[in-house]
Amino acid sequence: MAEQWDAFERRWLIFVTGAGLFQEVDRVVRTALSASLGLALLTAGVVKPAGADHEPKLDRAGKRRTTAPEYAGKGRLKLPGGFRTWVFVGSNIGLQYREGEAETTRREQGRHPGTKIGNFHNVYINPEAYNRYLQTGKFPNNTVLVMDVYEAKEKDARNIVRGGYFPGDQRAVEVAVKNSKRPDGLKTDWAYYAFPDPSRPAPATAFKDADCYRCHKQHADDDNVWVQFYPTLRGQKQSGNR
Ligand code: HEC
Repeated sequence: MAEQWDAFERRWLIFVTGAGLFQEVDRVVRTALSASLGLALLTAGVVKPAGADHEPKLDRAGKRRTTAPEYAGKGRLKLPGGFRTWVFVGSNIGLQYREGEAETTRREQGRHPGTKIGNFHNVYINPEAYNRYLQTGKFPNNTVLVMDVYEAKEKDARNIVRGGYFPGDQRAVEVAVKNSKRPDGLKTDWAYYAFPDPSRPAPATAFKDADCYRCHKQHADDDNVWVQFYPTLRGQKQSGNR
């Protein structure tokens, strides 16, 4: 009986250790597999490391590619990559447009729902267009302005701030493109686009002129651009800074 028990115990032990070993081997193989799969996907460009979307695009020689607008089929605009390294023209917080203004679309009126102060609008311009603007006082074809929209947050995770607002979650990205040869076939030189989910940006179709263009055309200081609200552009023409 005792011997039998011994034998049983031994077999059980072998079984248990074997299973443990198997589990261990399984774990090691799986880790190695997923690591190499991850590496393979990364190398193949299937997945991108975090933040890659906003890296400037480089050509083979490692030089920065043009920041001209890029389009998908039917003239839809792709979200410009790397715009956060462009020229920062200004940040407005919670601008609301006058009610009753003929050009104020309902979308624009209700653009800050449920917020106390509204959202941050961080606006960037592509460097080529910026330089041309300083030199000539005109926005050239392929000017791209990007408005990166963030909720204005008051409370930080560490509870260190006592007052004020900082940009919290990203809300949207909106883009204005000047292009007299629009691939969607429309003739208006400035086209306006929105990317409501910038983490998964599908190419965007331009809005109708009545939705965006008209207000910009009527009330923006210079060629549809709200230069009056952007310190980096404001006064550049007058200051002889070109
Ligand atoms: C009632 C007026 C009005 C309408 C309509 C309007 N905008 Fe604007 N937009 C503004 C003002 C004012 C600014 C200045 C910056 C800001 O709001 O922070 C601006 C700035 C922008 C900018 C930054 C670059 C620039 O041109 O100065 C983008 C991009 C933009 N709007 C996109 C849109 C889109 C897309 C629509 C249509 C869905 C739209 N806008 C409709 C008033 C308007």
